[in-house]
Amino acid sequence: MKRALSGVQPTGQLHLGNYAGAIRQFIELQANHEMYIFVASYHALTSGRDAPALAAATRQVVIDYLAFGLDPQRTHIYLQQDVPQVTELCWLLSCVCPKSLMDKATTFKDKTAKGIPASVGLYSYPILQAADILSVDPDVVPVGEDQRQHIEITRDLAEKFNHHYGEVFRLPDILVRPDAGTLPGVDGQKMSKSYGNTIDPFLAEKPLKKLINSIKTDSLPVEAAKDPEKCTVFQIYRALAGANDPRTTALAGKYQAGGLGYGQAKQALFELILEHFGPARARREKLMHDPGYIDQVLTSGAQAAQAKVCEVVARARQACGLGTSRAAITIQ
Ligand code: TYM
Repeated sequence: MKRALSGVQPTGQLHLGNYAGAIRQFIELQANHEMYIFVASYHALTSGRDAPALAAATRQVVIDYLAFGLDPQRTHIYLQQDVPQVTELCWLLSCVCPKSLMDKATTFKDKTAKGIPASVGLYSYPILQAADILSVDPDVVPVGEDQRQHIEITRDLAEKFNHHYGEVFRLPDILVRPDAGTLPGVDGQKMSKSYGNTIDPFLAEKPLKKLINSIKTDSLPVEAAKDPEKCTVFQIYRALAGANDPRTTALAGKYQAGGLGYGQAKQALFELILEHFGPARARREKLMHDPGYIDQVLTSGAQAAQAKVCEVVARARQACGLGTSRAAITIQ
């Protein structure tokens, strides 16, 4: 069976972009992959220093993973801090990573441009991500399009390590959902927590409707024919319903024919979100009141992830000449 690994940062409430680009793939892959899905809490330390907020968001990501449909019988769900061996792997990879490779990474430039402090942690973030990935020997990494460079860096570091020390790491492939692309937010830019333009599929109906009504559109009159490709409302609709769904085709036809007001398109999107996430919204209500179950899921996820990660870290240590220490025996 093929293996998949991915994670999401607990930097705030999950949004439709996370779902469309990443989490939806996690749910689909469960059918025929061994799954390692974690909460990237160490990564979140690079962009925020509010400890209670991090703790709460970390827990909430787990609840939302389960609400969306991750099944702990089929997916190892764990927190990054429960498998600290990954940070050791991060160091081993740092030592084969040319500084020039990090200089090329766009995340650091983008995030510092937005005012996030330029820490060494933020700078070397892609090496930690490479360690997360390589630590479980995955075949595929399901992510949104914006993570492409990070997966390329991961492959690059795995190759460099293998070149020096022998075949230690498997080179994983990126998996991007063809019809997801990069989902826009209510202002038409990439949907992102840092732009404050996200749509939370778990919002109560009234604020959700208000938020959807706030999606920016152009000022063409109702009777004008419109290009659906240029409309954020349509793009979000298509990402959720699917490009080949008859409802999507019908909506595109109405845009092109003229006579469709943006209010109607927004109402259609609102109804689609309620329908698509109805079961997830109901599950989340229950999960919010079952902390014991969440603890149980995280305990078994951490045990499974540790077993696999320790095996990989021992292999990497051994390969680079660190296999003779007494401590190396205890981590196997
Ligand atoms: P993060 O937390 O920013 O986003 C989590 C996942 O959601 C996807 N995504 C989107 N997809 C489509 N449209 C959007 N507007 C959109 N916004 C977010 C992201 O592509 C991602 O798949 N560095 C990662 C976290 C990470 C990770 C890993 C991922 C750490 N270690 C190992 C995979 C493997 C990040 O910041 O994702």
